[in-house]
Amino acid sequence: KRVILIGPPGSGKGTQSPIIKDEYCLCHLATGDMLRAAVSAKTPLGIKAKEAMDKGELVSDDLVVGIIDEAMKKPSCQKGFILDGFPRTVVQAKKLDEMLANQGTKVDMVLNFAIDDTVLEERITGRWIHPSSGRTYHSKFAPPKVPGVDDVTGEPLTQRKDDTAAVLKSRLEAFHRQTQPVIAYYAQKGVVKNISAEKPPQEVTSEVQKALSS
Ligand code: AP5
Ligand code: ZN
Repeated sequence: KRVILIGPPGSGKGTQSPIIKDEYCLCHLATGDMLRAAVSAKTPLGIKAKEAMDKGELVSDDLVVGIIDEAMKKPSCQKGFILDGFPRTVVQAKKLDEMLANQGTKVDMVLNFAIDDTVLEERITGRWIHPSSGRTYHSKFAPPKVPGVDDVTGEPLTQRKDDTAAVLKSRLEAFHRQTQPVIAYYAQKGVVKNISAEKPPQEVTSEVQKALSS
């Protein structure tokens, strides 16, 4: 299946996608993770993206479309994929549709992680990540076995630079202004399914699995 996850910052996209990826054996592409890796490696792409990311604004459509175009060429992405964090503007959605149309395919399903804005600050400010694997923890909702340490590798966890209450405000603004129209764009095509993202993680996982198997 070709699946897109859309939802505001902290809605659980990054928490759910590795689980569905393992189960459905799809390729998982998260533009935020790819951009953060580029920023920390100080590649030309990372240098261009850093300022917008630090402010909680979207990076340019051209940059992210370029990343996705390149990544989708991987053989593991030919039969299906999960996109987390892309497309985030209608321009990006149209580019993606064009790319897929060239291969004779299309987006099968868009999972809309619906959640109230008021819940998100606590989720975002309590988040801890293991950068190399993308594993995500939360100091209250999903604590690691040892505080500050990844369960699997024992390596240190870090916090994202944009995970502050102030930057969250701009990220939410960008979501409502630029990304919500993407949901409407796919709703017109009849491929959107709503997920109640405010439920506990395991319940969200079951909803996602149910949607994917329908
Ligand atoms: P990106 O990395 O995509 O960030 P985001 O969209 O703001 O989303 P998050 O990663 O914050 O949320 P999530 O839904 O993955 O939450 P998670 O599962 O971790 O993008 C970052 C930046 O990159 C953007 O601001 C932009 O600058 C740039 N960018 C990226 N893509 C772009 C694009 N296409 N175009 C332009 N610019 C782009 O969960 C959060 C926390 O909550 C965790 O601690 C988790 O443990 C906890 N949690 C998860 N689920 C639950 C639950 N059900 N109950 C309780 N706690 C939960
Ligand atoms: Zn994420």
